[in-house]
Amino acid sequence: MFKSGEYLLRILEKFELEWARELHNDPEVLTMLTDASFINETQQIKWYESLCTSTKSKRLVIEYNGEKIGLVRLDDIDQVNQSICVGLDIAKVYRGQGHGKKSFKVLLEYVFHELNMNRAWLLVAEFNERAYKLYKSLGFIEEGRQRERLYRFGRHYDYIMMSILKKEYKR
Ligand SMILES: CC(C)(COP(=O)(O)OP(=O)(O)OC[C@H]1O[C@@H](n2cnc3c(N)ncnc32)[C@H](O)[C@@H]1OP(=O)(O)O)[C@@H](O)C(=O)NCCC(=O)NCCS
Repeated sequence: MFKSGEYLLRILEKFELEWARELHNDPEVLTMLTDASFINETQQIKWYESLCTSTKSKRLVIEYNGEKIGLVRLDDIDQVNQSICVGLDIAKVYRGQGHGKKSFKVLLEYVFHELNMNRAWLLVAEFNERAYKLYKSLGFIEEGRQRERLYRFGRHYDYIMMSILKKEYKR
């Protein structure tokens, strides 16, 4: 559990899987992922069981004043090189109210100061202007592009790789 101000990050519990599935299956979330397929309960339970024993991935619930507002994705956790892939989805009713930016700041604080990572990276679809703008404003730097990696809305789009280092976040 990690608390910063009114925000709390804690591990996703089994009893919350339906909520997490609804968030995942929200078209605005799904369309941003490499694999944009809906998941059902059976698939999710199998995924959750493997997640519980994984050292490479974690899912954290974001709470704001006790309300569940979103989910953090931590993947490719690399302890040796201190590198981690981060992602965050805010539940529909809480979007556009500043929670994404504030939650991301808490997430970076957690990743750099609790997990002792040196590099946080992510992939963002080139059409996801809101997220791209958010990452830029937090200090993420564009590293490169997976050209035409995503096929959406009848055409191909780039997947943009961005990262931020601990020393940059401190600044
Ligand atoms: C992307 C996401 C995490 C941003 O969180 P949010 O709470 O909606 O965003 P915030 O209210 O914190 O705003 C963040 C920035 O985006 C801007 N913004 C907010 N809504 C916007 C919109 N509809 N279009 C463009 N920019 C927008 C804000 O102005 C803010 O910039 P600022 O700090 O310069 O003012 C959230 O919208 C989300 O989960 N979306 C669906 C899934 C997704 O895209 N996940 C990320 C995958 S890489």
